[in-house]
Amino acid sequence: MTIAVNNEKLKKWVQEAAELCKPDDVCLCDGTKEEYDRLMALAVKSGSATPLKKRKNSFLFRSDPSDVARVETRTYISTTKQIDAGPTNNWVDPKELKEIMKKLYAGCMKGRTMYVIPFSMGHIDSPIAKIGIEITDSPYVVCNMHIMTRVGNKVIEKLGSNGEFIPCLHSIGAPLAPGQKDVSWPCAPIEQKYISHFPEENLIWSYGSGYGGNALLGKKCLALRIASVMAKREGWMAEHMLILRLTSPEGKQYHIAGAFPSACGKTNLAMMQPTIPGWKLETIGDDISWMKIGPDGRLYAINPESGFFGVAPGTSYQSNPMAMDTLHGNIIFTNCALTDEGDIWWEGMDGDAPKHAIDWKGRDWSPEAKEPAAHPNARFTAPASQCPVISKDWEKPEGVPIDIFIFGGRRASVVPLVYEAFNWDHGVFMGATASSETTAANIGAVGNLRRDPFAMQPFCGYNMADYFQHWLDMGDRLGNKAPKIFYVNWFRKNSDGKFLWPGFGENGRVLKWMCERVDGKVSAKQTPIGFLPDENDLDLSALEIKKENMSELLRVDVDAWKAEIPDIEKHFGQFAERLPERMKKELEALKKRLG
Ligand code: GTP
Ligand code: SPV
Ligand code: MN
Repeated sequence: MTIAVNNEKLKKWVQEAAELCKPDDVCLCDGTKEEYDRLMALAVKSGSATPLKKRKNSFLFRSDPSDVARVETRTYISTTKQIDAGPTNNWVDPKELKEIMKKLYAGCMKGRTMYVIPFSMGHIDSPIAKIGIEITDSPYVVCNMHIMTRVGNKVIEKLGSNGEFIPCLHSIGAPLAPGQKDVSWPCAPIEQKYISHFPEENLIWSYGSGYGGNALLGKKCLALRIASVMAKREGWMAEHMLILRLTSPEGKQYHIAGAFPSACGKTNLAMMQPTIPGWKLETIGDDISWMKIGPDGRLYAINPESGFFGVAPGTSYQSNPMAMDTLHGNIIFTNCALTDEGDIWWEGMDGDAPKHAIDWKGRDWSPEAKEPAAHPNARFTAPASQCPVISKDWEKPEGVPIDIFIFGGRRASVVPLVYEAFNWDHGVFMGATASSETTAANIGAVGNLRRDPFAMQPFCGYNMADYFQHWLDMGDRLGNKAPKIFYVNWFRKNSDGKFLWPGFGENGRVLKWMCERVDGKVSAKQTPIGFLPDENDLDLSALEIKKENMSELLRVDVDAWKAEIPDIEKHFGQFAERLPERMKKELEALKKRLG
């Protein structure tokens, strides 16, 4: 094996991984189109990818039915002391976990090629960017990483002989015996899957899954779990946030970062087209935000990714036209349905359902079928540069200055359309107590209400209570330059189970109110939970919405909020003495205001 690199740490690590995993071949990835095309051709030839006749350079993959989403139950934060992983993370002692995983890794790449992917999270010239190296035996992962991160020789160059990188070891966990025929989506059974993080040594080991956040290790594993720990150590922030720029009719720019849990609307909001005249939205990022305090004392954000790994079902010209236009070509689709014409389809796409399709399990499907044609967590992998409203500044090395933070979740009741924090500590409390119904982005029950603080419950690489403290510390450093904090809920329902708010492009009305609050142009109503829009300050012009819907959307049901308190207490209780005093104070203050 020869690697054209002179970084000793990298050479040694690749050597060790090869000795452990015993691949037939080792290939250093260069990130070129030729490499992408070669691997896709292999995937087509082996039967794991279907080229789409109707979409240029686009391919459909169907996963194993057991491997369709992240697996939070198999995700570990492995620190020397369990308390450092905290009560919200699965924990196994690092020595023990490495022993278990080394046994699984032994010979796990037999019959396969080991790919070494040098990638940068963030533009290679950004002072906020970090380098990772993913080792994988999945050509699907390599192609997805080409789109989602910046892969190539430039990274190796930047690394030089002694540059630092985050090692990310991945195997699908399905060695091939000599002559054994491969399946179209090889992976290991659930009890052998491990998505492990060793934050004390900035190390990621993932085994057994080929899907999304389990396998594309730059995303949740590096850019959130490991980066959140680095950010705490180094005084910056790594968040599960979209980033957008909104420009007012007067030409004033506002940068907004929003944290909603998985499959709760980040991609949609990130490229939403406001229906109110004169307001313009540009996309910077749809899932992750890395933020550092700049020389002027403001908080600057970059999108560390270079692609979108977006939820397919529900995406349509009606709901998210900019996503639809992004998908014209050069896309990897996973677990979507295949039409007879050779295009993809999913539930919620514009127009009628096809009369016949092949579902995500590869079976004949018709609208009478009992199961959906596309898996609810079917995804598209798309280059961010193809988004028609991507900001010209989306790769700016220094990032964009954040004016507004939004937290949110999916709540059928209780939580109003929008409210504003009284101050930073109250905003941190809103983030710390955020709640949402679970979605298909994780393997497990859907629709269960849980606390998902800062939309980071599955992604915080350390004790969540210390993470709350980090938010408080950042606020102290930012002082009066700190972004204003809001909370939104697009998902409140009426008694018939219908959404009260039209959402999508209409969400621009809510963002407009936030911008006007930042500028002190509109007043607000003080309620026990925060500031809510005064009746006439939310711009509802040319929107057909029933008065009763609006009053329900903006109703603060004091009894329902009081009923939340025991759950918030239970949630905070799990952190015991690690919970910051200032969060306890906020809880007491809320209780008092509710009476
Ligand atoms: P991850 O990629 O898992 O982190 O998800 P995300 O937060 O980017 O979620 P996404 O924008 O893909 O939305 C997921 C689902 O929420 C889709 O089915 C959308 O149609 C739906 N959704 C998004 N925005 C709205 C909205 O404003 N109103 C309603 N009713 N549904 C929405
Ligand atoms: C999420 O679940 O929040 C995602 C999809 O963004 S995955 O990359 O699979 O984690
Ligand atoms: Mn996400």
